[in-house]
Amino acid sequence: MKTIKDIDVKNKTVLVRVDYNVPVKNGKVENDLRIRASLPTINYLLEHGVKRIILISHLGRPEGKISPDFILYPTVKVLKKLLPNQTIGFYDLPRKDEHIPIPEYVKVALLENLRFDPREEKNDPEFITNIAKSVDADIYVQDGFAVVHRAHASTDAIKNYLPIYAGLLVENEVKNLTTITKNPASPVLLIIGGAKVDDKQPLIDKFLKQADHIFVGGKIAADGYKSTHKKIVVASDFDTNEKGEKLDIGPVSTGELANLITDAKTIIWNGLLGYAEDPTYATASTIAAELIGEHQSADTIICGGDTTGFVENLMKDHPSLRYSLVSTGGGASLEFLLGKKLPGLEAIKK
Ligand code: 3PG
Repeated sequence: MKTIKDIDVKNKTVLVRVDYNVPVKNGKVENDLRIRASLPTINYLLEHGVKRIILISHLGRPEGKISPDFILYPTVKVLKKLLPNQTIGFYDLPRKDEHIPIPEYVKVALLENLRFDPREEKNDPEFITNIAKSVDADIYVQDGFAVVHRAHASTDAIKNYLPIYAGLLVENEVKNLTTITKNPASPVLLIIGGAKVDDKQPLIDKFLKQADHIFVGGKIAADGYKSTHKKIVVASDFDTNEKGEKLDIGPVSTGELANLITDAKTIIWNGLLGYAEDPTYATASTIAAELIGEHQSADTIICGGDTTGFVENLMKDHPSLRYSLVSTGGGASLEFLLGKKLPGLEAIKK
């Protein structure tokens, strides 16, 4: 994969596709992992003397219409805090043949939500080439790892207009996910939690060969997931509320999982082990997150929106926790782990 380290970016205008599809409530970003994860590329480009960086992203699913619920401005406020020495510009998507007048002193700018125009999701080359022309882009950088499983104008169609290079986030995600899928150190432990068995079963099936152990917790286990496969351990005891609802895995299963974590050399965790929004039922997830984060001799990957959000929060109070990768990709990392071809990554290879 070609990355930004393979080109001279000096004095170039670089169009960077990021994924700032972050949770926003009352105009405030609730989890800024994806925005922070875009900083290595932005800083690299600034340090290497680019003329300007134009960031493009989608937010939510506004279905091709302008909607106040999905404006990207809240992410600009976060970027301003993260890049205090930069003036961050924010511009509407350009009309046909429009040139966006960005002043000289604005080195970093973000354009409005790509999905306000239906042509983004229709993978329309004209839409994305018009954007590239409107800012005089010389180079295209794909750094929106979380969206590379979509064949959209900004992930796919752009490949026929500008050379695409991977940003540092995409490079890091791909490197870590490739290691654990192609060449994982054993013992390999896959931890599955969450609520939807249909989403997780393909991952369990895929990893049956590679993994030494697959631990199943969360609502899936509470709902009675069963397996007779010798590699699969399903949580067997639960913490319950007064109504008898099973809301966290219990101490016996947590102990079993703790032993598996300690012995593993590769750990992939997708899905919370209990109803962790309520701290009463976050015990097993907290213990798992701490044990994994303290396990420095294993490759450790955290994926899935709820799990990464949980781990990120925990890291704020426990900054010594370290993971090989807290993946920014929800669907994208799952599809990668399942071995699917991702259009946004294929476009970089082209
Ligand atoms: C995500 O959050 O998984 C990505 O931003 C992709 O969003 P989408 O599922 O709406 O395409």
